[in-house]
Amino acid sequence: MSVYETPAEDSLGELTAVPEPGAVTVIIPSFNESGNVRELLRRITESVPSRVPCEVIFVDDSTDDTPEQVAKAAQDCPFPVSVIHREVPTGGLGGAVVEGIKAAASDWVVVMDADLQHPPSLVPELIATGEASGADLVVASRYTKGGSRAGLAGGYRVAVSRASTWLTKGLFPRALRGISDPMSGFFAIRRAAVMAEDLRPLGYKILMELAVRCGPRSVREVPFVFQDRFAGESKSTAREGLRFLRHLVELRTSKPLWRMIAFGLIGLTGFVPNLLALYGLTAAGMHYLPAEIVANQFGVAWNFLLIEVLLFRTRRHRRLSDRVGRYAVIANADLVLRIPLIAFLVGSWGMSVLPATATALILTFVLRFAGTEALVYTR
Ligand code: GDD
Ligand code: MN
Repeated sequence: MSVYETPAEDSLGELTAVPEPGAVTVIIPSFNESGNVRELLRRITESVPSRVPCEVIFVDDSTDDTPEQVAKAAQDCPFPVSVIHREVPTGGLGGAVVEGIKAAASDWVVVMDADLQHPPSLVPELIATGEASGADLVVASRYTKGGSRAGLAGGYRVAVSRASTWLTKGLFPRALRGISDPMSGFFAIRRAAVMAEDLRPLGYKILMELAVRCGPRSVREVPFVFQDRFAGESKSTAREGLRFLRHLVELRTSKPLWRMIAFGLIGLTGFVPNLLALYGLTAAGMHYLPAEIVANQFGVAWNFLLIEVLLFRTRRHRRLSDRVGRYAVIANADLVLRIPLIAFLVGSWGMSVLPATATALILTFVLRFAGTEALVYTR
């Protein structure tokens, strides 16, 4: 066992005896952070003891000169620094982190922001905590004793952060047990605990993605104080908020039963455009029967849009025109099938009309879901 030094900045120079930590790859997603990278690398250099094998990987989607600034500042670093610049920035921040994890070679991966809101002095403690406890995941938390969200500017952002933490923990009580701050973007995870191929990152909340899909064996938390940004501005937008909601739906519906329930709920919302169109068309003088058929297409189109965006983003393998055509056929077959099915249940099986109708509705719904999965969004 050797001595592992917590950097002076954090512990006033105390030495803490913990097991020798494994090598660490620090992954930093960056988007136009040229004013921050030099100071960030300086603080990482200061924080990570020189005997700990360390590498830093920036996964960069910038349109400014961040990569050049990293290259310049890296000349003063005692450890390897690389930049993966992505021409196609799929998955946003989370996509960048997964790209970095795939390129990482160390036992431990630490993910942190480029703007110094995450104090680099905590990196050794995150790894040491993981090594000492055997945990797969160590989260730097603002919401555990000793942590704070000082750098979360404004009551609005605090309220949004609270609400999203509450919603997320409510939706994934088991996967997020022991994580008080699932929205944190600062954590250490054992590379062996990450199945990178199973991840479907979408925007900022990569910790939530990892915790839910990889199910790390055990989790520890280390408190931290969320700092003010060193330079530049936050890249988070209202659009990012919508992406977060999509991400929640995607994660929650990864199992078929939940996906079928969501499919049904989306189907119910389709009544709104359907009825509105029916109202408009009949008011414009169309006979109600052809109006029914046309109005149904409004509901079908609405449902198609929602399932494309919310349920099957990662399964859009067929061409768009192909998906539209197949979905339209399946959704309309529903109408054509239902009446003969009811007639069959009543006539040949002797069911009474109401249970026969209910059975037919359920049966055609399940068929529509199964057909959509198997024929439109083939794996
Ligand atoms: N590669 C890449 N691509 N990096 C990105 C992208 C992107 O599309 N968008 C943002 N980043 C980088 C930024 O450059 C920064 O290093 C980091 O991701 C976080 O972005 P900020 O814009 O600083 O986000 P924030 O401060 O609003 O949010 C942070 O704190 C939240 C907690 O309040 C993040 O850590 C969130 O994950 C965290 O939930
Ligand atoms: Mn930030």
